[in-house]
Amino acid sequence: MTMAIPLLDLTAQYAAIRDEIDQALRAVIESQRFVLGPVVERFERAMAERLGVRYAIGCASGTDALLLALRALETRPGDEVIVPTFTFFATAGAVWNAGLRPVFCDVDARTFNVTAQTVDAVWSPRTRAVIPVHLFGQMAPVETIRILAGERRAFVLEDAAQAIGARRRIGESRVAAGAAGDAGGFSFFPSKNLGCFGDGGLVTTDDVGLAEGIRKLRVHGGEKLYDHEIVGTNSRLDALQAAVLLAKLPHLDAWTQSRRRNAGLYDELLEGVEGVVAPAAEERNEHVFNQYTIRAARRDELVEHLGALGIGTAVYYPLPLHLQSCFRELGHREGDFPTAERLSREVLSLPVYPELGAERIERVGSAVRAFYEGRG
Ligand SMILES: Cc1ncc(COP(=O)(O)O)c(C=O)c1O
Repeated sequence: MTMAIPLLDLTAQYAAIRDEIDQALRAVIESQRFVLGPVVERFERAMAERLGVRYAIGCASGTDALLLALRALETRPGDEVIVPTFTFFATAGAVWNAGLRPVFCDVDARTFNVTAQTVDAVWSPRTRAVIPVHLFGQMAPVETIRILAGERRAFVLEDAAQAIGARRRIGESRVAAGAAGDAGGFSFFPSKNLGCFGDGGLVTTDDVGLAEGIRKLRVHGGEKLYDHEIVGTNSRLDALQAAVLLAKLPHLDAWTQSRRRNAGLYDELLEGVEGVVAPAAEERNEHVFNQYTIRAARRDELVEHLGALGIGTAVYYPLPLHLQSCFRELGHREGDFPTAERLSREVLSLPVYPELGAERIERVGSAVRAFYEGRG
């Protein structure tokens, strides 16, 4: 019997670096300093340096990274934040929970990302911020959105949860995800390219005022203990999580290379398969393939076909956010964002994790090809 191929297998990664991780965890346990502290600070410095930003602030999750950044902004009730309707729920949920109004926009069918045009189409005098999401590991065109936002004094918050290590050629430079906007939010949920052993997140920015605001908000709104200038929350990065992340960080580039190689293999295997559109990377982007997401005719039948062969897949995302029942009062209906709606019926993410190896990718690729060639 052939072995199953899961969508993601984190045990292989852990097996390869077990000693490094275990030592790092043990050191934190010996120190008994579990919340913030020197290990978290070391991780924050390492991330700031790596991404090319002044400030990197650890927090409890990627969701909180967005929420804290939005809450640190000066806003008025009723202010709007433009978000793609085709993204993970947290992007819009954070806007809502910050007391702001999510305004959805459509995405580009090739890149799955927002464009300056789709953002501009929903801009209003109340627009206070835009959150371009770097979906599946490829950066959105932040620089063009910044031009719009700069003219109109709006804030650009990158949702870089899926895009650690991604870069984009902007002018003469290569800019990292999280360093292209006014601020960026990262997630270290285990399935991300850099994942911890639970929840974790990070906000990046060059703005000292914003960084100070976020640092306060994550510890109940005060710099000094029991002195609260604003009402914040408890959203800190644990030292155990930071230790895992610091141990994994030196491996991230190699893992990214493997993901990119895997994606290249899929591209070759799926070329010319009628019914499949492989993911397109913009020429100026270094895609890090948190997901390898195809567009597939008869998608749900393909899922069944692959599932029967033991191949794990996932649909990210089956329902665009403007059609979620919790946002009913925003008054949207089917047809409002046709590209996102079509994508939600067509997308399918295939296994692409670094340790997969060519042989398993060939099995997945051949299984997809066989399905469309009627040999499935
Ligand atoms: C695009 C996007 N935004 C935000 C988040 C939220 O991150 P977290 O799960 O760490 O709260 C995620 C990850 O799940 C995500 O994929």
